[in-house]
Amino acid sequence: MAGKTYRVIQWATGTVGKVAIRHFAENPTYELVGTLVTNPKKVGKDAGEIAKIGPIGVIATDDVEAIVALEADAVHFAPSVHDLDMVCRLLRSGKNVVCPVGPFFPWERWKPDFDKLAAACADGGTSFHGSGIHPGFAGDLLPLTVARIMNRIDHIHLYETIDHLANPSNYIEFMGFGRESADLLANPGRSPEAPYMFAQSMEIVAKGLGLTIDDVTAKFDVATAVRDIDYGRGVVKQGTVAGQHYEWTGWADGKPLITYHCFWTMGDENIEPRWNAGVSGYRIRIEGDPPMEVTMARPAAAEGVQYLGLPWTAMAGVNVIPAVCDAAPGIVTHFELGVPTLRGLFRPD
Ligand SMILES: NC(=O)c1ccc[n+]([C@@H]2O[C@H](COP(=O)([O-])OP(=O)(O)OC[C@H]3O[C@@H](n4cnc5c(N)ncnc54)[C@H](OP(=O)(O)O)[C@@H]3O)[C@@H](O)[C@H]2O)c1
Repeated sequence: MAGKTYRVIQWATGTVGKVAIRHFAENPTYELVGTLVTNPKKVGKDAGEIAKIGPIGVIATDDVEAIVALEADAVHFAPSVHDLDMVCRLLRSGKNVVCPVGPFFPWERWKPDFDKLAAACADGGTSFHGSGIHPGFAGDLLPLTVARIMNRIDHIHLYETIDHLANPSNYIEFMGFGRESADLLANPGRSPEAPYMFAQSMEIVAKGLGLTIDDVTAKFDVATAVRDIDYGRGVVKQGTVAGQHYEWTGWADGKPLITYHCFWTMGDENIEPRWNAGVSGYRIRIEGDPPMEVTMARPAAAEGVQYLGLPWTAMAGVNVIPAVCDAAPGIVTHFELGVPTLRGLFRPD
């Protein structure tokens, strides 16, 4: 389908949705034909203005029926709150869906969701793909890609590091930074379901290695602020939680196969113990032969956003829209995508 233009809809204009709109406007592979917003202040605004690139002639609407009725090849569905029934409606209306909210891989725990999606795909002759940086890339596609040049794998580690002081977001409050340690350890900011969301990525790696994940174990510890930390909107008080470390391990054949280490801090130098978790981004370390390490981070010399996980999330989905549209109807995982052809990324003019 080289040369084809894909008519796309952006559903929700948060950080991820805005990156997608900017790309749709720049890359001639896409024609943005609709934008769904929930925020009343954005209704009636030009999508390009919402994305801070100036008008592009697409007016944002909160009229769901009008969006469902639009003729389009695909929807990039990126709201903060998932709506699987809406995704199914869009699939049944003949639009393929690429979605950073998941689900990401049809293993046992997510079977009911995937059964619904597969039925909608069959009815609409369409495809669904769960996309993103993690889940979706750093903890699944990347280690699996790197595994192809290894002789033996003993244990895969993925480190997600986010310095929330350098990358302020509403996650600071949502995740419970500034709460007392004992309180947060007893009632973590992350849902008890979170490890299983990420275990979909573990299962992708396991499947790619001819295995399956038998069990997922979790650990959680915190670090405290050595001083008051002012992050603009508020202050994380000295002695309260200023670092959170989630560690989830997927087991295969009775041994730990893959561990996700998530280090979220309010600045490494502000916490005790000091984790020295490194720059914001993702690092894969594979124990095996030969040992392997890969880092994904903003180059030190580059200016702008410190943690690129959200732009990466947008592009992980947007870049496979053509391949998902061209795929046979049904659930499209990394295994169905194979090595997708990416359109319009090289734009020398
Ligand atoms: N897979 C991954 O690696 C990965 C990584 C990062 C994020 N994500 C997911 O991607 C999605 C988008 O992330 P983001 O950073 O762009 O989120 P965000 O900035 O928090 O905003 C998402 C948008 O959702 C809409 N929204 C707000 N409240 C809503 C509600 N109650 N129901 C439905 N929609 C609502 C709003 O759209 P309008 O402003 O247009 O009204 C909001 O701007 C999130 O679900 C996030 O969890 C996935």
